Amino acid sequence: MDKIVVTGNGPLKGKIKISGAKNACLTLMPASLLSDGTLKLTNVPKLSDIDTMSDLLTSLGCEIGSDKQVGTLNLKVREITNHKAEYDIVRKMRASILVLGPMLARDGYAVVSLPGGCAIGARPVDLHLRVLEALGATFELKDGYIFGKTSGKLQGTKFEFPSVSVGATENALMAATLAKGETILENVAKEPEIIDLAECLIKMGADITGQGTSTIRVIGVNKLKSAEHSVIADRIELGTYMLAPVIAGGEVELIGGKRELISAFCEKLEVAGVDISNSESGLNIKMPDNRIGALNILTEPFPGFPTDLQAQMMAVLCTAEGVSVLEERIFENRFMHAPELIRMGADIDVYGGVAKVTGVDNLKGAPVMATDLRASVSLILAGLGARGDTVVSRVYHLDRGYEELEKKLVGCGAVIERISE
Ligand code: UD1
Repeated sequence: MDKIVVTGNGPLKGKIKISGAKNACLTLMPASLLSDGTLKLTNVPKLSDIDTMSDLLTSLGCEIGSDKQVGTLNLKVREITNHKAEYDIVRKMRASILVLGPMLARDGYAVVSLPGGCAIGARPVDLHLRVLEALGATFELKDGYIFGKTSGKLQGTKFEFPSVSVGATENALMAATLAKGETILENVAKEPEIIDLAECLIKMGADITGQGTSTIRVIGVNKLKSAEHSVIADRIELGTYMLAPVIAGGEVELIGGKRELISAFCEKLEVAGVDISNSESGLNIKMPDNRIGALNILTEPFPGFPTDLQAQMMAVLCTAEGVSVLEERIFENRFMHAPELIRMGADIDVYGGVAKVTGVDNLKGAPVMATDLRASVSLILAGLGARGDTVVSRVYHLDRGYEELEKKLVGCGAVIERISE
């Protein structure tokens, strides 16, 4: 298994190009199941999660042509030749559940392995099933698999989500495009990835309005067609790299970064004393000479502070001036980076869903272990600001979600080396 060694090396200076969004791409790819036309995606990041989704779609009958250098994917599903998403692929990635709605909408049946738990919490799929039931599907859970079917086409419906779910909104949105009649989805997720999905589906011929608000209206159509769509910028990658000069010092330009993708996050950084400005091609981040101030952070659905940036923010707050409080409201077990940061000299107390971080003068390099994608990158950030070497093991998590991480940071003067064992 590979390890990454980060050697704290002082201020960063340079430019980082933000890649296409992993999470947007993982929902755009299953949309190809809705049509026998070709879905061409551009600005696709080179990530192992994208390869996993490609493997899953290929197993269902999707023909995929890709040019990884250019970042394009051509997905064509003349027909779904296999309606079973096997455990061996689904267990690697929870987003696999997003093939359920499209397969039910197109062919009226689907079998998908239950994704199971994951390191950051239980993460059930009840909301996915409830909204698809409202659209007319029935489900049976047997031998670890979800068996779904419909009698005839899915039927338009009115459904209010009891709580906000990004994935369940995506599954419902895709399924509703081919349902009979009108579907109104209330209390939906408003994340930029939902807007990106809706815009792609509209290019494919879907009739959707309201994306980006809490109510989405879909009028079902008989068929969707070929389309081309460019994946939006990865707002979590953007936020992560914005924090690199905050912890290591210096000034970095994020090419393709847009403030509106993470405005709640930008506001917090500015309160802490970080200088953020628009540059010609993105955002410029400049760290002040003094330490940043402590912050109170509460993770919430978009447009609130993203849970996917909580670990990285905690790493940065470890050396802030004063006491910060981070409250995790989305996932119940998402502080597994805290013990690793403590190994590096951080002062953190976790009580249930709340972490209290008392700023220390410096972090010190140590051997640490990555536990999930965002936790891994928080340790890389901590290493950039620490004294000495930080050796991060289990870095396969990073390869799921950060394209060319070492290259991007080394380009700004960081000292990072991957060691293959
Ligand atoms: C997506 C993102 C993930 C991000 C999360 C929240 C992708 C591939 N992943 O995950 O990076 O951290 O949004 O922004 O886009 N829940 C239920 N029942 C369900 C579904 C969800 O109780 O059927 C709960 C979850 O356990 C969690 C909360 O709802 O507590 C939000 O989860 P959700 O928005 O669905 O996250 P994902 O779509 O899995």
